[in-house]
Amino acid sequence: MNHLPSPSELQALVNDTYHQFRDLPGGENASYIPYLASVPSELAALVVVTADGDVYQAGDSDFGFAIESISKVVTLALLMEDVGSETVREKIGAEPTGLPFNSVLALCEHQDKPLSPLVNAGAMASVSLLKADNPEQRWQRILDMQRRITAGNVTLSEEINQSEQTTNFHNRGIAWLLYAAGNCFCDPMEACEVYTRQCSTLVTCKDLAVLAATFANKGVNPVSGERVMSRDNVAPLLAEMTMEGLYDYSGDWAFEVGLPGKSGVGGGLLAVAPGKCGIATFSPPLDESGNSVRGQRMIAEVAKALNLNIY
Ligand code: DON
Repeated sequence: MNHLPSPSELQALVNDTYHQFRDLPGGENASYIPYLASVPSELAALVVVTADGDVYQAGDSDFGFAIESISKVVTLALLMEDVGSETVREKIGAEPTGLPFNSVLALCEHQDKPLSPLVNAGAMASVSLLKADNPEQRWQRILDMQRRITAGNVTLSEEINQSEQTTNFHNRGIAWLLYAAGNCFCDPMEACEVYTRQCSTLVTCKDLAVLAATFANKGVNPVSGERVMSRDNVAPLLAEMTMEGLYDYSGDWAFEVGLPGKSGVGGGLLAVAPGKCGIATFSPPLDESGNSVRGQRMIAEVAKALNLNIY
């Protein structure tokens, strides 16, 4: 078992890695959600939070950006608390799709079952399976979990939400396909509307690193000290992240970096080194799979330098 280096060495690694990759060329902001196209592409941040709650940060680590698909792991954590990981596996799935995050083909080839809670179809199914009496309660439970797992002041951005709710026609189509097959467990437009809101909250890179560190710390937020999920649910959740966290690049990511990860089209990316630390990055330009180009390089570098590969 290797240990993390001293605080000054860790901060130097974070600084050096950030400066090495913050201007790396390549990729483009997501543009299918109008708001995301307008975020300055040159913003960048790298944050490491240890399983003890120590924070090492560089760059724009307090800039608020759209959480997007990283919200899927938060809702999944909440859902596993509600119904247990086996029910998630049975009703939604635990396999990679090998296809893009919003693929209809992936659904059609599997009797409209999502396979993974981390693609759009599975994330809407997850929202629909949460215990809630009405849409507002469904939403508030998710927002509350986003706040508890980050120990951050996460808020809904009305601007992002408006931008997404008025352009999410593809996701609405997916929600109806799920519903028709019996794989959506509330009104499909409620599932889509609440899912879209959960993607539209503002988080910082530091929030995401605390989120990742909470998984690294077996479900206890190391900054607030609160247990936000049971220890037993952490391993199946990290397994889902390994299989689908970076979508159709997840296999290459496991091969190269060897850490469960999760990306969002807002430019956020995080990785979990169990028992050691959470690593998060922010940089809007994305590759073809929807993963931050600079973020991937920063996390790969930190993971290599700290010998974090779990395989
Ligand atoms: O549903 C969508 O398409 C977006 N709100 C989120 C997609 C996303 O972040 C995919 N991630 N890389």
